[in-house]
Amino acid sequence: MSKSIGLVGARGDVGAEMLTLLGQHPEFECVFACSSSQAGDLVQQHVPAAPEGLVFENLTPDEAAARKVDALVLCLPDGHAATWCPAFEGTDTVILDVSSDHRFTDAWTYGLTEHFRTDIQHSTRISNPGCYATARQLALRPVVDDLAEPPHGFGVSGYSGAGRTPSPRNDPEALADGVTPYKLVHHTHEREMSRHLGTPVRFSPHVAPFFRGITFPVQAKLHHETSEAELLERSQALYGNDPLVHVTQEIPRVQTMVDHDGAIVGGFSVNPERPNEVAVVCVIDNLRKGAAGQALQNLNLALGCDEALGLDPIWQESTA
Ligand SMILES: NC(=O)c1ccc[n+]([C@@H]2O[C@H](COP(=O)([O-])OP(=O)(O)OC[C@H]3O[C@@H](n4cnc5c(N)ncnc54)[C@H](OP(=O)(O)O)[C@@H]3O)[C@@H](O)[C@H]2O)c1
Repeated sequence: MSKSIGLVGARGDVGAEMLTLLGQHPEFECVFACSSSQAGDLVQQHVPAAPEGLVFENLTPDEAAARKVDALVLCLPDGHAATWCPAFEGTDTVILDVSSDHRFTDAWTYGLTEHFRTDIQHSTRISNPGCYATARQLALRPVVDDLAEPPHGFGVSGYSGAGRTPSPRNDPEALADGVTPYKLVHHTHEREMSRHLGTPVRFSPHVAPFFRGITFPVQAKLHHETSEAELLERSQALYGNDPLVHVTQEIPRVQTMVDHDGAIVGGFSVNPERPNEVAVVCVIDNLRKGAAGQALQNLNLALGCDEALGLDPIWQESTA
């Protein structure tokens, strides 16, 4: 029996990606898609792969709750999710928030699927991780208990990570021919990663002139010597049964992941002169594993479906 999904913030980059994924999902039906600026428009005019016949609506939280959906997905800017939750109190509706509003809230389950799968399966309040935070944590988790000091990560994102509200960080002309650092200390994702990894980390975000994708090289010092083979083996042991994480010794390329789900963790490197200094790289599509893809992966689990249903990893090409 299909599950009904309601989408709020449906005209943004994440919302549009969510509509595309829902349009091809065999068990989920998107029953409403909210946008104030495009209310009344046929959704397929804006997102060709969206479910047929759907029209953007400008619903209030109470009107949305009256539709009695199995899951509500909030794709709103930070600071706007809270107004939607009270209307759904006391219902069975699973609420999944892709903003950062609940990533620091104990009562919500943190939705980094590979690390919190069992909790997600039994949760009705899921806070989807940030895009950089997803890539960084997937790369670092295999060695997190062996860190000798806070590790540093240099994340580079495509400009869809900045949403559609015009800014220098999503203006292709302003970004052309360069890679632009920003918010070099105390980024929300730095605090998010530190909280959910249980150890402090440092993070330098950058935006690049490509539209989608994140490459995240991580450098760390361990309190023991190691080898590339050991790092590879540890990551394979941790992620070997996960359908949406691929582990490879090769340095993964961000282009590989565009329009595809899941993550590639690879490029395990050890400094031959100081073999406790290591590096590892994770690549994702920020709109898929970094946002809508992981949201769907979590909804699959919370609504009793196979975790990878309707999702599309691309491991063969990545290792070619
Ligand atoms: N982009 C990414 O890679 C990424 C990754 C992970 C998480 N996220 C998070 O996902 C959320 C959505 O991101 P996005 O990139 O899709 O943003 P976006 O492109 O700016 O879209 C925002 C959506 O929210 C609605 N909206 C805008 N301003 C609003 C307001 N003041 N009040 C209520 N609704 C408003 C917009 O539709 P209407 O104005 O038509 O109603 C639009 O559908 C953000 O919290 C972001 O941090 C983004």
